[in-house]
Amino acid sequence: MTKLSQPLTFKRGLTIKNRVVMAPMTTCMSFFDGVVTKDERDYYALRSGEVGAVITAAANVQENGKTWEGQLGVYDDRFIPGLSQLAGAIKRNDTKAILQLFHGGRMTNSSVLRGEQPVSASAIPAERPGAETPRALTTEEVKTLIDSYKQAALRAIKAGFDGVEIHGANTYIIQQFFSPHSNKRNDEWGGGLEKRFKFINDLVDAVTEAVDNSGVSNFIIGYRFSPEEFETPGIRLADTLFLIDQLADKPLDYLHISINDYKRMSISSEYQDKTIIQYIFDQIKGRVPFIGVGDIRTKQQAEELLNSADLVALGRALLIDPHWTQKVFDGRDDLIRTEISEYDREELLIGNGTWAFMKNLMPDRLIKK
Ligand SMILES: Cc1cc2nc3c(=O)[nH]c(=O)nc-3n(C[C@H](O)[C@H](O)[C@H](O)COP(=O)(O)O)c2cc1C
Repeated sequence: MTKLSQPLTFKRGLTIKNRVVMAPMTTCMSFFDGVVTKDERDYYALRSGEVGAVITAAANVQENGKTWEGQLGVYDDRFIPGLSQLAGAIKRNDTKAILQLFHGGRMTNSSVLRGEQPVSASAIPAERPGAETPRALTTEEVKTLIDSYKQAALRAIKAGFDGVEIHGANTYIIQQFFSPHSNKRNDEWGGGLEKRFKFINDLVDAVTEAVDNSGVSNFIIGYRFSPEEFETPGIRLADTLFLIDQLADKPLDYLHISINDYKRMSISSEYQDKTIIQYIFDQIKGRVPFIGVGDIRTKQQAEELLNSADLVALGRALLIDPHWTQKVFDGRDDLIRTEISEYDREELLIGNGTWAFMKNLMPDRLIKK
């Protein structure tokens, strides 16, 4: 038995049966209004049962956080019945279901928001073609935003999920509050590194307190972050090591990096001795379980990653082969499917939206011509 098949128990009591986690991946399969579809449930059910946990696609905590058509919603009680069916589809054969909580901030646009201007920490557009200038949230709106994450976590409990993941990565609104590029606020949530961390601190406190006061047991709370930004100014690895140091002492059940190559090195010249993941793992010093990720294809790579992480998340590998985990546990990794083509989509239950999304994120070697 490898470490990959060992269970892990989180601080809040939940045990997952092995170290493989399905990475959160936006499916664009929900209805126009954010309600879960049957296609989406089937897509998850196909990939569940073998992995220890499935982290869902990003779900909007506010209507104006929506960033793609067909995105999941969790911003109203009316979503609870559908989310409950989704949790049920995932919770097969003891796989745990974790709902990812999201707000896109300045990364959305007024077309997806049906004419509304996107919001962010400050009125600064992202550095990408066609980016719209967002409106800076008022102090009251920041408090409402924090409350929205809390309400979303309580809905996830009602829907029967085993946990939530706060999506603080991939340039979306939480990262926008932490980044010196997008946060130029003058109030309690803006300024130097520590003040830019205050939004995250307040948010994590609100969600953890709400969950702990809800009476639920064994419900976990994770936090996902991106280690670096390419903009100047932007988040650098030194800022992230500060962030991690703070978060590791908070009542969180896991920290989860977002990175597309587990061997990636930092863009900062002062951090060239080891991989980004190794720097993060060493900073955490075992205070909280750490999920590593990034182009894991084989059992050997997953086991190698477990030298600098407690759990391994797989994204594209599970899109291409939903049975990656069982094949690895059975010693039949030679049977793992390694490429995908347009013609495999029906069998793999990959809808148009997911296909468009994944093609952008797939290196050529994974797409069969
Ligand atoms: C189709 C697709 C959708 C994604 N959507 C999300 C998302 O909703 N939330 C998130 O945190 N990361 C998202 N990601 C990033 C993945 O969670 C993961 O970090 C990335 O794909 C690298 O892992 P992999 O090499 O195992 O695929 C997405 C990736 C893909 C391919």
